[in-house]
Amino acid sequence: MGREAITRAREREEDRELLSLRPRRLEEFVGQERIKGQLRLYIEAAARRGEVLDHILLHGPPGLGKTSLAYIVAAELGVHIKLTSGPVIERPGDLAAIITGLSEGDVLFIDEIHRLRRNVEELLYPAMEDFKLDIVIGEGPSAQTLRIDVPRFTLIGATTRTGLLTSPLRDRFEVIFHLDFYSDSELQEIVRRGARILGVEVTDEGAREIARRARGTPRVAHRLLKRVRDYAQVRGEGVITEPIACEALEMLGIDAEGLDELDRLILRTIIEKFGGGPVGLETLAAALSEEKDTVSEVYEPFLLKKGFLQRTPQGRVATERAYRHLGLSAPTRPLSLLAEEER
Ligand SMILES: Nc1ncnc2c1ncn2[C@@H]1O[C@H](COP(=O)(O)OP(=O)(O)OP(=O)(O)O)[C@@H](O)[C@H]1O
Ligand SMILES: [Mg+2]
Repeated sequence: MGREAITRAREREEDRELLSLRPRRLEEFVGQERIKGQLRLYIEAAARRGEVLDHILLHGPPGLGKTSLAYIVAAELGVHIKLTSGPVIERPGDLAAIITGLSEGDVLFIDEIHRLRRNVEELLYPAMEDFKLDIVIGEGPSAQTLRIDVPRFTLIGATTRTGLLTSPLRDRFEVIFHLDFYSDSELQEIVRRGARILGVEVTDEGAREIARRARGTPRVAHRLLKRVRDYAQVRGEGVITEPIACEALEMLGIDAEGLDELDRLILRTIIEKFGGGPVGLETLAAALSEEKDTVSEVYEPFLLKKGFLQRTPQGRVATERAYRHLGLSAPTRPLSLLAEEER
């Protein structure tokens, strides 16, 4: 298993542990107001017309709620959901079996849809457009293509990397939603909701402290909440207060900006090994002994958003803010690079 696969597997494992915290209905899903509003409308409109919901593509960094939203859409529609993922579907026949097994109106969720094999993806085109499948029977010159009807369904695709989606596939989604990082106050609400479900008391300040350090990501907020709860029960009185949250997060190596060990290592590597950058992703990943995709998908989006890192055509550059955060003094940079950073 590659490093990326291990990271994903670990996250999945963790999600199972945190299953009780997963929002089940739209009203429990905190934040992403614009997306929720549109979804509500489309679901209601489809129901009124007695039609299936349009195909939906969800993209954005890991842990922001793509899988949760897919479950929620199915629940709101009152239909079944079938889950699969791009790399799991090996042959067109596998996809054909999945689709023919759906009932009218069901949701088919394909995670990591950018990793579908080409021949599998091509089978999906007519299925999405016309609810038809082209089945090839026989081999060689006598092979025949049979076009069969399949139940009408809603495809929900999820990807962390919309850039890798082919345009014929992307074009077949009627609705495309980009999930962005959550605000601190939304995360605070997610922490409060999580604490309620886990049956642990948290003060407003305690929730705010966890939220601030959760990298804009609900999955991280839940993970930190559980760790802080353990700490509160063993070292405190069981209540998550601000000092308890701070101590626990400090112990976990999560700093005031929410950066963990690896975040800081990435910045320090750019600064110490590559003179602050620019350094190419490949070189950087090699220096960290990390998978390229893990660095660019899991770590970088947050560092970029926080302004610790810049992506320039020449590679990654640590910003002045990164130097300051690590307690280092920023070098005087060539003007060309500074200009790039300001852009
Ligand atoms: N808006 C939200 N409100 C409350 N909890 C949320 C929200 N979004 C996500 N979560 C929680 O965060 C966890 C991760 O969410 P989810 O699995 O849906 O993310 P994802 O975008 O599919 O991630 P990945 O790209 O890794 O598959 C879930 O266990 C869920 O409980
Ligand atoms: Mg997911």
